[in-house]
Amino acid sequence: MSDVLELVDVSVVRDGRALVDDVSWSVKEGERWVILGPNGAGKTTLLNLASSYLFPSRGTATILGEQLGGVGTDVFELRPRIGMAGVAMADKLPKKQTVLQTVLTAAYGMTATWHENYEAVDEERARAFLDRLGMTEYLDREFGTLSEGERKRTLIARAMMTDPELLLLDEPAAGLDLGGREDLVRRLGRLARDPYAPSMIMVTHHVEEIAPGFTHVLMIRQGKILAAGPMETELSSRNLSLCFGLPLIVEHTGDRYTAHGLPLS
Ligand SMILES: Nc1ncnc2c1ncn2[C@@H]1O[C@H](COP(=O)(O)OP(=O)(O)OP(=O)(O)O)[C@@H](O)[C@H]1O
Ligand SMILES: [Mg+2]
Repeated sequence: MSDVLELVDVSVVRDGRALVDDVSWSVKEGERWVILGPNGAGKTTLLNLASSYLFPSRGTATILGEQLGGVGTDVFELRPRIGMAGVAMADKLPKKQTVLQTVLTAAYGMTATWHENYEAVDEERARAFLDRLGMTEYLDREFGTLSEGERKRTLIARAMMTDPELLLLDEPAAGLDLGGREDLVRRLGRLARDPYAPSMIMVTHHVEEIAPGFTHVLMIRQGKILAAGPMETELSSRNLSLCFGLPLIVEHTGDRYTAHGLPLS
């Protein structure tokens, strides 16, 4: 299987501090990864590398076969092949734009509306993705008026619009209520198990948000990888405790995970 993402000895240094510190990690086609780690660990920085918006200070990053900064690599050709849904994106999008327009503009790699007619086929695709995310009733609503959960679902539909080979999700379930989280986990699970869906990397803070169909986990702490590999072996109480720096127990029930601290004695 070919590599979707390959980081070799990658560091990202800002103000003399390594935000990502000597990381080597590869994501193969068909794998769906979850990234776990405390606040400030470097999770979003890893996604920014994977999205080609951030270049390594040291080491090499190869995304979908293209080496960042390499001869012959054009990031403007690479970026439409990668879908990114994160909070940073939500802030860049015009609040007055409708939900349908918000998703449609992704097809043209822009954050603002374009005043020419979109192809009918694009509109059909946008509607289909929004439908898959349960947003059909909101097509004409202004993006700025959406609730957190509705905004998250719109952003995922938007990230799917360019038919990406790699889909990056930064805390897609943050801020959702229990019903909203379960709904999103179900939809992500469906996507993760779809053989035609893109490779996926999802950052989350809670193992409860890991949808069935995700295959691998990476744990990061202070910019360094603590564990990376298949979910069954790496998502252990030991690794999670080391990652978050306190004793934790991970339980695996059916196809879902939960984690909690040790009971008070
Ligand atoms: N441009 C920058 N210059 C300096 N420091 C930065 C820059 N961008 C991020 N950082 C720092 O790098 C560290 C890692 O940031 P990052 O956003 O990757 O963390 P994270 O794991 O996503 O955290 P969170 O769970 O809070 O979202 C943080 O300490 C952050 O303050
Ligand atoms: Mg983050």
